[in-house]
Amino acid sequence: MSLNVAMIGCGIISATYLRVITTTFREIKIIGVCDLIRERAEKAQREYNIPKLYETMYDAFADPDVDIVLNLTRPYQHFDVTKAALEAGKAVFTEKPLGASFEEGLELVRIAKEKGLMIGGAPDTFLGAGLQTSRFLIDSGYIGEPVGAAAFFNGHGPESWHPDPDFFYQFGGGPMFDMGPYYVTTLINMLGGVSGVSGMTGATFKERMITAAPHFGEMIKVNCPTYISGTMRFDSGIIGSIWMTFDVYESQTPRVEIYGTEGTLSIPDPNCFGGPVGIWRPEDGQWKEFPLMFPYAEQSRGLGLADFAKSIETGRCARCGWQQPLHVLEIMESFTISSETGKYIELKTKYERPKPMDPSFKFGILD
Ligand SMILES: NC(=O)c1ccc[n+]([C@@H]2O[C@H](COP(=O)([O-])OP(=O)(O)OC[C@H]3O[C@@H](n4cnc5c(N)ncnc54)[C@H](O)[C@@H]3O)[C@@H](O)[C@H]2O)c1
Repeated sequence: MSLNVAMIGCGIISATYLRVITTTFREIKIIGVCDLIRERAEKAQREYNIPKLYETMYDAFADPDVDIVLNLTRPYQHFDVTKAALEAGKAVFTEKPLGASFEEGLELVRIAKEKGLMIGGAPDTFLGAGLQTSRFLIDSGYIGEPVGAAAFFNGHGPESWHPDPDFFYQFGGGPMFDMGPYYVTTLINMLGGVSGVSGMTGATFKERMITAAPHFGEMIKVNCPTYISGTMRFDSGIIGSIWMTFDVYESQTPRVEIYGTEGTLSIPDPNCFGGPVGIWRPEDGQWKEFPLMFPYAEQSRGLGLADFAKSIETGRCARCGWQQPLHVLEIMESFTISSETGKYIELKTKYERPKPMDPSFKFGILD
């Protein structure tokens, strides 16, 4: 069986979803598209042969053929779109973050529960070959017992490539809310939930110049932290460090490393589905690349949505179900609260890791 999806938002990332979903996953079918800028929806419809174009998102929510709303709007728009879809009785899968604040995320989950609807969200890169192989190695004891973790994202911001980069610097933006979901989701998938965090945040540049067309030369006012350093205490007791910034040109830090009593694991870019996975053990005395043991090493955005659809169909837990993006949202926001209050923040949400992927399943079909 395949479930019908209405895509709201036909901006930059939508083409990737459209390409992957129309060629890979049998659990889902995009039956309609919608964008405030009609030409974007028309282009998507034309290029991917999508049956329907909705004039407004409300038309999509009113369509009885739609099983799932896919929310690909900007972070500060996620709440209104997801809320309206839920209130109209539709299950929602949203791009990251779940909301622009923890409060928004909590409210969306409350509405979904009240309505008896499923809600889930990106990222889904943790279901890919690189991160599933990494998780397998940790769970199988290849580095012994985990003792700590570190994650780094360094960059100088998306205004050099994104055509509408303003949202990256507004409510719900910044490197932690934009790239953090990949890194935090990866860490909790490897190591389990986080019980508390502390952080320091800042913003080096109060204004940024857009250097990509069509807004080249325009200035953006920065209204969110762009330099974040955080520490996490996992439920298991181990400590993780995270660093996310849009204020740095280059760096040689790793992406993610997990340290264990018997070795170190070098985890691939959490924003990608593939490898390489590196492992260092004392008996080797050098880094070795571990072969990927799971499918989906190529760009597979939509995998989490396909899994979500399968869970609606079968009643099993969705790997990207709300518990994960909500826990991630609370962690990300708590770094700033800690910075502003000078306090260690105990988290309210609890998290249980979703089950790993089943590598025996045929490509494009979920277990
Ligand atoms: N750009 C990327 O590389 C990328 C990668 C991964 C995830 N994401 C996530 O995907 C989401 C979208 O990012 P993007 O870069 O595609 O943004 P974008 O600004 O290019 O596209 C967003 C689109 O949503 C449309 N929209 C907003 N509200 C709407 C509404 N009510 N009804 C219909 N259309 C509406 C806008 O008109 C716009 O075309 C964000 O949450 C972002 O974090 C982006």
